[in-house]
Amino acid sequence: MRSGLGSEKVTFDGAPEPGTINFGVGQPSADLLPVDLVRKATADFLATAQPVELNYGERQGDIRFLETLAGFLSHEYGTTVKPESLFVTAGNSQALDFICALFTRPGDTVIVEEPSYFLAFQIFKDHGLNIVSIPTDEQGLDIDRLEQELGKTRPKLLYTIPSFHNPGGQTMSAARRERLVELSRKYDFLIAADEVYQLLWYEVEPPAALGTMVDRGNVLSLGSFSKILAPGLRLGWIQTSPELIGRLLDSGAVNSGGSLNHFTSHVVRHAIDLGLEQSFLQHLRRQYRLRVIAMDEALHEHIGDLASWHRPEGGYFFWLRFPEDVDTARLRLNASEYQTGFQPGANFSSIGGLGNYLRLSFAHYGVVEIREGVERLARLVHSQL
Ligand SMILES: Cc1ncc(COP(=O)(O)O)c(C=O)c1O
Repeated sequence: MRSGLGSEKVTFDGAPEPGTINFGVGQPSADLLPVDLVRKATADFLATAQPVELNYGERQGDIRFLETLAGFLSHEYGTTVKPESLFVTAGNSQALDFICALFTRPGDTVIVEEPSYFLAFQIFKDHGLNIVSIPTDEQGLDIDRLEQELGKTRPKLLYTIPSFHNPGGQTMSAARRERLVELSRKYDFLIAADEVYQLLWYEVEPPAALGTMVDRGNVLSLGSFSKILAPGLRLGWIQTSPELIGRLLDSGAVNSGGSLNHFTSHVVRHAIDLGLEQSFLQHLRRQYRLRVIAMDEALHEHIGDLASWHRPEGGYFFWLRFPEDVDTARLRLNASEYQTGFQPGANFSSIGGLGNYLRLSFAHYGVVEIREGVERLARLVHSQL
C-alpha cells in the first residue's frame, strides 16, 4: 500500500475499496498497464540473453540501454540527447532520495514549489533538510520571488516539477526555465527537475525539458518509465552534466551494486527497439486526453458553480480551487459515504496552506467512471457547502 493514499481505505495493491471511485489515487488504471507489451519485450530479450546480462551491470547503466534511451529521448525532445549524459535509476522517487544522499547534509535547505508533490516532502524530511517554499502561478515557479529568497537563503537544492505539475497541472514557461538555470549558476545550487510528466502531453508539447539544459547549469533532470510504461518496472534515469555524472558514479551504492536496475533496463531496451514503447505512449496520450475532456465536462456540469480550475494539457491531475472558507480535508471525512475520494490540497503545502484546494487524478478510471465519480463528488460537495 502506498502511504500517499493517506487514510483512505485501499486494498493491498493500492486500488481503492471496490465500489468507490477515488480520484485520490494517482496510478494508472488496470487497462493501461501493458502486460502483453512487457511479455513480448521480455521474451525478445530472453531469446538471445547472455549470462553477462544477469550480472551486476555497469554503474551508469548498460551502454546499449543508454544508447537506446538516448535515441528515444532525442526523438521525443526533438534535440540530441547523448547517452553519456544519462544514468539509470530505479525511478524518480529513488533518484530524488539518491540525490539528497549524495549532495545534501542534514540541516541544508531545499527549495520547493508551493504546492508541490507531497511524497517528495517526506524524502526531504528523511534527509533532515529544511524546506522553504516559493509560490507558483499559471506559468510555474515564481522566479522573481525565488530571486528575492536567494538574497537571504542559500539552498543546496531546488526541487521543481516543470511540466504538468503534481498537483497544480501547470507548466513552467520557457523563459522561466532559462532564468531558473541562470540563477542556479549564480547562486550555486542544484536543480532537481522532476520531469516525470514531460512526455505525457495531450494537446501541445511543453517547452523543452530541463534535461536539454544540462550542459548550461547545475541541472539534474529526473525521468521515469512509471508514467509512460508501468510504475512497477521501477526504471528511470537522471540526465545531467559529465561532472555530475561523475559524482553519481562515485557513490557507495553503485560502487557496491552496479546498475540500479540492470534487468529491467534490458526489457525496456527491447520494448523501445521493437517500437512497442513508442506506440504505447501514443495510446496513453489518446486515452488520457479523452479522460481529461470527460472530467472537465463533468466538473463544469456538476461543480462549475463552486470551484475553478484550468483544464490540464498533460500529466494526471485537475487542481480545484474552492472559496477561501472551504476546508477540503474536512470535506474528505465524509467522502466514503458518497463512495468518492480525492487528495485534500493541504497535503501539498509545506507551510500549512492550500486548505481550500483539492486534487483529482484522472489516471485511475475510464471515462464512464470519471463521469459517475464527479457526480458523486458534486453530491458530497453540495451536501456540505
Ligand atoms: C511528481 C512526481 N514525482 C515522482 C513520482 C514517482 O515517480 P517514480 O514512480 O518514478 O518513483 C510521481 C508519481 O506519482 C510524481 O507525481
